[in-house]
Amino acid sequence: MFKIAVGIVVVVLLAVGAAVALRLRAGRDTSATQPTTAKAPGKVAIVYYSQSKVRNTALIAKWIQKHLGGDLIEIETVEPYPEPYTLTLAAAEKERRSGQKRPVKPVPSLAAYDVVFLGTPIWYGTYAFPVEQFLKSNPLSGKTVVPFSTHGGGGAPLFARDVKAACPGAKVLEGFTARGSNQIERRLKVGVTAHHTEDDVVRWLNGLFGK
Ligand SMILES: Cc1cc2nc3c(=O)[nH]c(=O)nc-3n(C[C@H](O)[C@H](O)[C@H](O)COP(=O)(O)O)c2cc1C
Repeated sequence: MFKIAVGIVVVVLLAVGAAVALRLRAGRDTSATQPTTAKAPGKVAIVYYSQSKVRNTALIAKWIQKHLGGDLIEIETVEPYPEPYTLTLAAAEKERRSGQKRPVKPVPSLAAYDVVFLGTPIWYGTYAFPVEQFLKSNPLSGKTVVPFSTHGGGGAPLFARDVKAACPGAKVLEGFTARGSNQIERRLKVGVTAHHTEDDVVRWLNGLFGK
């Protein structure tokens, strides 16, 4: 009797797990149902860094491009961070303690752009180290800067404040932040859409640049 009960519980758990996995996977493929009213006031660059295999931040960057246009510019480190996640965390922690952040590759000139979207995974409550490195050699003064980020559940408490501090002379608009994937979702290879949809991004863009 006991064995049958355990068997039933296991089957139910497997079914629920499969249903959740399918729902999360399906979420990654949904497209927006909201109409886009946003029009960019000038030439747009979408500069972003995305580290994890799921590439949460890259997905938001692509949605911004899809609905507003603009050029995608990816910040990349010269040496990629190690995988899996535990090794990434260990490498980042070593850099945080030593202050020796790994260098990033040069990006194309941003001189011609009026609006710069700046996207990052949240690390230690703020932008990731490669974005910090990017900002050191690419001052954004005179630009309209639009921050966006993905995080693992802790929010982005210091991000807006730190972008404003790092971009003197820039007009920093209201950003967008999305909860990205957790460890289990990573294993299922699903990312930010487990928690947010393309519609959320469209609503944000419409609020910023809509009629
Ligand atoms: C070194 C490191 C530090 C992180 N720090 C935070 C944090 O402070 N708060 C949080 O919510 N998530 C944190 N995360 C999780 C990432 O922000 C989250 O997984 C993000 O969506 C990854 O985006 P990506 O797929 O574009 O790399 C951290 C991840 C790493 C690797």
